[in-house]
Amino acid sequence: MPTTDVVVVGAGVTGLTAATRLRRAGQNVVVLEARDRIGGRLWTDEVDGVRLELGGQWVSPDQTALLETLDELGLETFARYREGESVYVGRDGVRRTFAGASFPVSAHTESEVDRLTGILDKLTAQMDPLHPWDMPGAAELDRISFSSWLEQQSDDPEARDNIALYIGPAMLTKPAHSFSALSAVLMAASAGSFTHLVDADFILDRRVKGGLQQVPLRLAEELGDAVITGTPVTSIEYTTEGVLVNGTWQARRVIVAVPPTLVSRIQFTPNLPPVHMQARQHTSFGIVIKLHITYPTPFWREDGLSGTAFSPYQVVHEAYDNTNHDDTRGTLVGFASDENADALLALSPDERKARVLDVLATYYGEKALHPSAYYESRWMAEEWTAGAYAVSFDIGGLTRYGATLRQPVGPISFGTSDVAGLGFQHVDGAIRIGRMLAEALL
Ligand code: FDA
Repeated sequence: MPTTDVVVVGAGVTGLTAATRLRRAGQNVVVLEARDRIGGRLWTDEVDGVRLELGGQWVSPDQTALLETLDELGLETFARYREGESVYVGRDGVRRTFAGASFPVSAHTESEVDRLTGILDKLTAQMDPLHPWDMPGAAELDRISFSSWLEQQSDDPEARDNIALYIGPAMLTKPAHSFSALSAVLMAASAGSFTHLVDADFILDRRVKGGLQQVPLRLAEELGDAVITGTPVTSIEYTTEGVLVNGTWQARRVIVAVPPTLVSRIQFTPNLPPVHMQARQHTSFGIVIKLHITYPTPFWREDGLSGTAFSPYQVVHEAYDNTNHDDTRGTLVGFASDENADALLALSPDERKARVLDVLATYYGEKALHPSAYYESRWMAEEWTAGAYAVSFDIGGLTRYGATLRQPVGPISFGTSDVAGLGFQHVDGAIRIGRMLAEALL
């Protein structure tokens, strides 16, 4: 029976960060990964001759743990293309172009957006994202949906829809009525402020040359044959002395670096304490279709457009120039989230594509109707993720159960980006949690 110091379940960034840190400190580790590939929600792949970031891709200046890791691994970044005007389609259905961060809305709506941004920035400043349940008024904010909270704050529907867009469709990938105002504040606090989330040039600043999946791939390379793919962990038996994983690997400790929603696929003997079973039932992934559309050239640039487009009223609520730094073809990336994703998924693939291209034509003109390649990342259909981008709590769950998700049970520790503070839901958070998990064992 193979014996090691620590078994890590999951070869995503969290698990691999923890495993490399433990290995560097002299511990023996084994990483067991269900999929046949490394990287979890990071996956850079070539589809129809185009290199695509099927999962996570962007790096922002606040993500210092990720930036340090990129440096350490010798990976270079490049800036997202952002010259020219952006596009916004408002509540009146009219397409307008604009420069800068403020959408072209009425003066009243603009001042309401600014006011709401100020309120959210103030709340965010009162929160330590690692302990959101401790902020003043946390219980009240966790008891109300973000959409109801916005209705209490402003009578301007377009201002509310825009603020909701940044947190709902664009981040938690859930409708704003399904998560709490406290979860919304956490999302903003995890990026430093709400103002950061609103600023696409900040939050979607850079990409990694060759793809972000190189982070987990290089970490796994360092671990060599200690990383075993194609091995779903289905059982963990534990005592105070140690663990037995899948009836095969014996270790002092195990780190379960899988999203909270997938923990229940593992049979624990004895059962996890009731609060642990309960806590994870109150978490869920959102849903988003990441759309990759390639054209012979980035034609929008010639038309003076940056490629950035937003609308709370279109099925594809945001889109960007996602052209690879070493490609002459132009690629757009778009996102359809929450109830819009539900509606698209109810269509046939051809109808869905037509619907998406129609929205892109609204944003960029008729040329958008004729791509040379079209692909949809559908993480909700991936067995070992089953949603995107990350996991968040239902209303009331964050204050009630948030702390539980990071609590170890005997020799078992838990964590992924879904339970991070800074970098919550992002690769930066996965690295921070991976480091914390390793440090706690050392
Ligand atoms: P992750 O889910 O990656 O890893 C868990 C691993 O455990 C997986 O490899 C899984 O297969 C494995 N596993 C699960 N159950 C198992 C079992 N029983 N046995 C063995 N293995 C098991 N972030 C960002 O910073 N910038 C961005 O632009 C984006 N954009 C984005 C787009 C899309 C479409 C997605 C899906 C996600 C993003 N993200 C992102 C989020 C980011 O990708 C994510 O937060 C991290 O990659 C999560 O890394 P973790 O290691 O924490 O979990």
